[in-house]
Amino acid sequence: MARRANYEKYYETVDEEDGPFCKIINSHKYVVHNIRGYLSLKVVHFVMNLHTLPRTFYLTRHGQSEYNLLGKIGGDSGLTPAGIEYARRLAIFAKEEIARPRPEDQAHNGEVAKAFFRKENDDSESKGNEANKERPCRLWTSTLRRTQETAQFIDHSSFNHTFDNGEQFEWMQFRKKPRRNLDELYAGTCDGMTYQEIQDVYPEEFARRQADKLSYRYPRGESYMDVTLRLEPLAQEMERIREPLLIVGHQGILRIVYAYFMGLDRKEAPYVSIPLNNVIELTPHAYGCHEKRYCLMMKEEMLADGQDEPVTSMPVAAKNPGSATPITNMPNTPSKAMDRTQLLTRARKSIQEIDANYAEDDAIMNAPSC
Ligand code: F6P
Repeated sequence: MARRANYEKYYETVDEEDGPFCKIINSHKYVVHNIRGYLSLKVVHFVMNLHTLPRTFYLTRHGQSEYNLLGKIGGDSGLTPAGIEYARRLAIFAKEEIARPRPEDQAHNGEVAKAFFRKENDDSESKGNEANKERPCRLWTSTLRRTQETAQFIDHSSFNHTFDNGEQFEWMQFRKKPRRNLDELYAGTCDGMTYQEIQDVYPEEFARRQADKLSYRYPRGESYMDVTLRLEPLAQEMERIREPLLIVGHQGILRIVYAYFMGLDRKEAPYVSIPLNNVIELTPHAYGCHEKRYCLMMKEEMLADGQDEPVTSMPVAAKNPGSATPITNMPNTPSKAMDRTQLLTRARKSIQEIDANYAEDDAIMNAPSC
């Protein structure tokens, strides 16, 4: 109320004679007046998807693929044993960490969380209702084998879910939604090659990419700019949804998603460090985005991660020594999944927390909340 009173001191009511506008009333009612033009209407659509409820995104690359191990880019290979191990650990993490109910859930997907917290206070009520132990979560993957295989062990229980508008739904937990726009940046004629092979066979192409990684388009393939365009509908959907969302994706794609939520300059996006075997948790808030990174599998547990890209292509990673270092001579990956407590203790211990801010001039993220 105090914030609203403050706004009232400085803002003026816009009326029809003042020109085109879009009013959002209590996040439920929208008044769109006299708006024309492709871009303006797109902005209206975008604004209608925004909400101010708490939500969390979890971004992870697929587990190590056969191509990762060989240092090859693209393709549609399956997971290595280390990749399968990561998939098993991710399933535990999804159930025990992502789906764990939190007090803030009561703001929107109320019923499950409310029931859970009621149960905490009064054990006689809702006893034996296993569904109360989870909050409703979403899962998106790309259409490629390596992300599908990474998501394969995630549990899909179902329970009743009441949305914040009162609608009831039979919710399938982590229902897998494969999306084509999450497929990795397509490297065209270079797909399936190592960076060294590209440099040997197409030295000019290699040099052009090194010079301008953002705009460079692989012959018959894509650029980071192309990927940004195809991710636009995905960003809109991410703005709209309320439930925690786990995305199992690819390095190039997650760099763009990450840069969007962190308000990074687009030139920085192609260099963001998105290592294998980590889950990045992003929690947007009014003037920034809180980030946590959970490492589910240590580098020492892998033979190699195949991520020894040309050093000059990674200026940001170079500032964070370690993230771009090639891994060699690592002991064998354990063949059995770690026990749950072990895994979660390890993941919690390895958390890196960063309170990152959106770009200062990011108009949308800096807009006053309703
Ligand atoms: O190496 C794994 C990978 O996902 C490739 O498939 C993809 O081409 C590459 O990363 C994208 O990273 P960069 O743009 O740095 O080459």
